[in-house]
Amino acid sequence: MQILLDAATIQSRIRELARQIESDYPVPEEIHMVCVLKGGFVFMSDLVRSMTARVTLDFIAVSSYGAGTKSSGEVRFQKDLDTSLEGRHVIVVEDIVDTGLTLKYLQEILRSRAPKSLKTACLLSKPSRRKVEVSVEYIGFTIEDKFVVGYGLDYGEKYRNLPHIAVLQE
Ligand code: IMP
Repeated sequence: MQILLDAATIQSRIRELARQIESDYPVPEEIHMVCVLKGGFVFMSDLVRSMTARVTLDFIAVSSYGAGTKSSGEVRFQKDLDTSLEGRHVIVVEDIVDTGLTLKYLQEILRSRAPKSLKTACLLSKPSRRKVEVSVEYIGFTIEDKFVVGYGLDYGEKYRNLPHIAVLQE
């Protein structure tokens, strides 16, 4: 597998994103981070550990891919949040925005729950694959149209544990 982004590059970009997010929400505003499982778990974990104590967390699970490498456009909601979003500054934390279908769907659901604000942070974005327009305020890296694994991202549930992002050669 060819390494696209090594661990050190990812870590330093995440520290930058954490600083940017914190400066966008002046103290003492609290920031509620919603991790999209499963892919977002590594990014979320590193991002929140680069931030201060004003952070609370929750997790949501959707699936859009099954075991393949192409989006079906169909999104299934598998685990809901444990806590209310009402009146909170919410940031959705996703692994990657590809077609944008998953995120669009999620943002609509979360917006209907009356957060004070709703933003999105994604580690990776593949803009050339977008099928719907979707707003992403914090992007780690913009990449080409290649299927990638590692750092939370899987292929058939494998490779999520890699500390880097690699291109999967099929
Ligand atoms: P979208 O709905 O097409 O934007 O797809 C979003 C979801 O598809 C992501 O949250 C990932 O779980 C998965 N996905 C998209 N591209 C990749 C990739 O290159 N590697 C692994 N998973 C991907």
